[in-house]
Amino acid sequence: MADIILEARNINKYFHDPVDVKVLSDINFKVNKGEFVTVTGKSGCGKSTLLYILSTMDTDYEGELLIDNVSMVNRPEAMLARVRNEKIGFVFQFHYLLNEFSVLHNVMLPGLKLNRYPIQQVEHHAMEKLTRLGIEKLANKKANQVSGGEKQRIAIARALINDPCIIMGDEPTGNLDKKNSELVFDIFKQLAEEYKQTLLIVTHDQEFAARTHRRIQMEDGKIIPDVH
Ligand SMILES: Nc1ncnc2c1ncn2[C@@H]1O[C@H](COP(=O)(O)OP(=O)(O)OP(=O)(O)O)[C@@H](O)[C@H]1O
Ligand SMILES: [Mg+2]
Repeated sequence: MADIILEARNINKYFHDPVDVKVLSDINFKVNKGEFVTVTGKSGCGKSTLLYILSTMDTDYEGELLIDNVSMVNRPEAMLARVRNEKIGFVFQFHYLLNEFSVLHNVMLPGLKLNRYPIQQVEHHAMEKLTRLGIEKLANKKANQVSGGEKQRIAIARALINDPCIIMGDEPTGNLDKKNSELVFDIFKQLAEEYKQTLLIVTHDQEFAARTHRRIQMEDGKIIPDVH
């Protein structure tokens, strides 16, 4: 049986301001190890809200979330913060790199925060990730001295630094041109195929989604069932 990395069980989510609105309804799915899964759907259907819950940042929901077979329900914030840092890598639409630091240091930051390996080893890991993504030459540049496409690859290297169980992305190609979007897609694909990296990516890009292992389509806060 395949290893399950993430599981959503009957997740419901309400916003209460100004009136009660149900924004996610009965969300159920599993993501297996090494799967490259996308979440698609119209603007406002609840994709970011769902990703917020799945990444443990939002704890105000009904139902259950399991990451790496451990329930995330009713856990103290310190534990959730550790899970986020250790088990989840994030790639957003905007890269959030720190301009005053070198590329290498930016990639090292979540590794330093995890505080599991000595600094030299974190640096070695960071160089490995940069090399894997073909951008090792940028290591000593300042983060504001590289292109937009390079920044997003650096953000992916940073997401990989703690060898997460799963990489989550909210529109990671949303701010890139076609060429750079394809490059990021190819990197994700390579990570899934060569390194068995699990990926859960929210995207508007239907072409992108069609080329992944599985697409979860949402409408009005619900998952549209697959028609076979
Ligand atoms: N903090 C909030 N309070 C109340 N309603 C919210 C809040 N955040 C989001 N919503 C509403 O919840 C719904 C889902 O929003 P969400 O941001 O998850 O959509 P999305 O699918 O990510 O859209 P997009 O593709 O535009 O990013 C929308 O109707 C939105 O207006
Ligand atoms: Mg969104």
